[in-house]
This record gives sequence, C-alpha cells and structure tokens, in this order.
Amino acid sequence: MADTTHYKELGLVNTRDMFKKAMAGGYAIPAYNFNNMEQLQGIIIGCAESKSPVILQVSGSARKYADPRFLPHMVTGAVQMVRALGVDISVALHLDHGDTFDLAKSCIDSGFSSVMLDGSHHAFEENAALTRQVVEYAHEREVTVEGELGVLAGVEDEVSHEVSHYTKPEEVEAFVEKTGVDSLAISIGTSHGAYKFKVKPGEEVPPLRFDILEEIAQRVPDFPIVLHGASAVVPEYVKMINAFGGKMDDAVGIPEEQLRKAAGSAVCKINIDSDGRLAMTAAIRKVFAENPSEFDPRKYLGPAREELTKMVKYKNEHVLGSAGKA
Ligand code: G3H
Ligand code: 13P
Ligand code: ZN
Repeated sequence: MADTTHYKELGLVNTRDMFKKAMAGGYAIPAYNFNNMEQLQGIIIGCAESKSPVILQVSGSARKYADPRFLPHMVTGAVQMVRALGVDISVALHLDHGDTFDLAKSCIDSGFSSVMLDGSHHAFEENAALTRQVVEYAHEREVTVEGELGVLAGVEDEVSHEVSHYTKPEEVEAFVEKTGVDSLAISIGTSHGAYKFKVKPGEEVPPLRFDILEEIAQRVPDFPIVLHGASAVVPEYVKMINAFGGKMDDAVGIPEEQLRKAAGSAVCKINIDSDGRLAMTAAIRKVFAENPSEFDPRKYLGPAREELTKMVKYKNEHVLGSAGKA
C-alpha cells in the first residue's frame, strides 16, 4: 500500500450524504464500535441484512489494538464481503473520540472517511481552534469531522470523566461557525459504559434533556447532532451475563423509547459500543458455562458474532429506523 490511502480506495464514503438523508427521513445512522474481526463482521452483516447505512467506528485505543496498518485492510475486506453478497450499503470508517490533530491526521491518511475531534474537555476557544485545525486538513481530503461541546460522564480507555456537563445551547452556533464541523456531539444526559445511572429498585432512569436538544436544533436548524453513550444496556444481555457467571448487577442504560425519540429528531448519528460488548460477552459466557471443555475459538466467537448481528439488525429495524435506508 502507498504511504497514504484515500478512503474512496477502500470503498468507503464520508458521512455527509448519510446525515442529509437521515435528517430528511427522521432516522439515525448507527455508529457501532469495533476492534476485532468478529465484531466487524457481526456489525457489517447485521447492517447488510437490514440494508442499513453504517458508520464503523474505532477509538484511538481500539485502532492501536487492531493495529493501524491492519485496520484499513479489515475494513475494505468487510466492504468487499457485503458487495459480494450483492448488497449496496453506504459504509463510513470513523475515528471515535480523537484527541489530537496528529491522531486525526494519521487516521485520515490511512483511509478513514470521517473523524471526531473531541476537545470537549478543553475550554471553548481551545476546543474550537483544535477542531478547526482538523477540519481544514480533513475537508481538503473530503473527510467529514465531528466535534463535541459539553462533557459526558463515564469511563473508557482514553476518555474518563467523573461528572457530565450539559451542552450550552448558546455556544453551539458560534462553535459550528468557527470550526466548520459537519456534525456535533452533545451532552444531554447520556454517559459512556454500562453503568449510566444509579437507580434504586423500582426507580425509573431520569429522562434525557430533550429540551436542550430542541433548543440546539432551533439554533442550528438541519444540522446533524450526534448522541454518544447511547447503549440501551440491553437488560436481556445483562441477565444472561449474570446467569452464566458474570457480575454486572447495577448495569443500566438509556431506555429504547428515548433512543427512538432521539433518532426521530436532529440526532443523525447514534453511538453504540457497550451493547455490542454485552451481546458478545453474553453469548461467550453461555457457551463456556454450557460447554466447559470447549476450547476452539470458533465455537465461542462464532455465536458471539451471530448474537451481535442479531442485535445490530434489531437496533437498525426497531430503534434507529435506519433499516432499508441503505
Ligand atoms: O466512546 C468510546 C468507546 O466506547 C470506545 O471505548 O476507548 O474502550 O475503545 P474504548
Ligand atoms: P456506549 O458506552 O453507551 O455504548 O457509548 C458508546 C459511545 O459513545 C462511543 O463513542
Ligand atoms: Zn462516545
């Protein structure tokens, strides 16, 4: 491969048209995180079978895990696999939570069609300047950029915040204008990971701040908004994990009804990582609990991949509304 690869060589598209159609059609594009072959296959097959456009996303640490040189080949393999099935869905490769210009540039140069610059932990001006720098490099190469305003709580490998700060709607217009971003992640009460709320038995989880979302949508009409931390933390998977030796008693996520409402609004991209992890872990734990002598990875990673495909189809069809929108 040459020193740099443009995403079009890999059969990918940027997110511009995807978001335009999602905004007009009142649905959201799924952005599923992955870091290995079975996850990638589970996601792409689920999207091919439900004829949904898809954003395949990797964090900086996921990219390191898969290997930055290896990753673009995996993704182009996934695109070729769905084409061979006779399915023509739009596929984007996106950097999730990029935190430096160098990381975003390296992703763009290796074939990513979209990048996020998450400067949400910086002060407004610093965030805007860093994001603008990435936008300039990206747009020259027809790569789309997601920015973020407001802070989500939660812990991931490289993103960790104790408390969240809701997005201030009055800052959004200026940020979009200054940076030239193509989409904006906002904070309205979601958080990363499988433990999103502390709820006592019988208590409901607090509703998302749709009032903030609406105010933002009024200030930047038809501008694509992104919802991070949007796993439902599917209760059946949590139950399955706990039934087969796991310990995730207090895991709780965003109720599906609220995700449906978000998908029908200015939210054009919904980020799902934890639910994919839960689906695979539940399936793997079941295999090991029922077949303790099993040691062929295909016998547990295969069912895990199938469970992920099932979950992806369900989300596309019944939560995000992206099924059939290719
Ligand atoms: O929001 C980011 C994702 O959940 C990625 O998490 O850094 O553990 O790959 P990660
Ligand atoms: P979840 O942890 O809710 O799946 O959120 C994932 C995410 O926002 C990735 O950027
Ligand atoms: Zn996120």
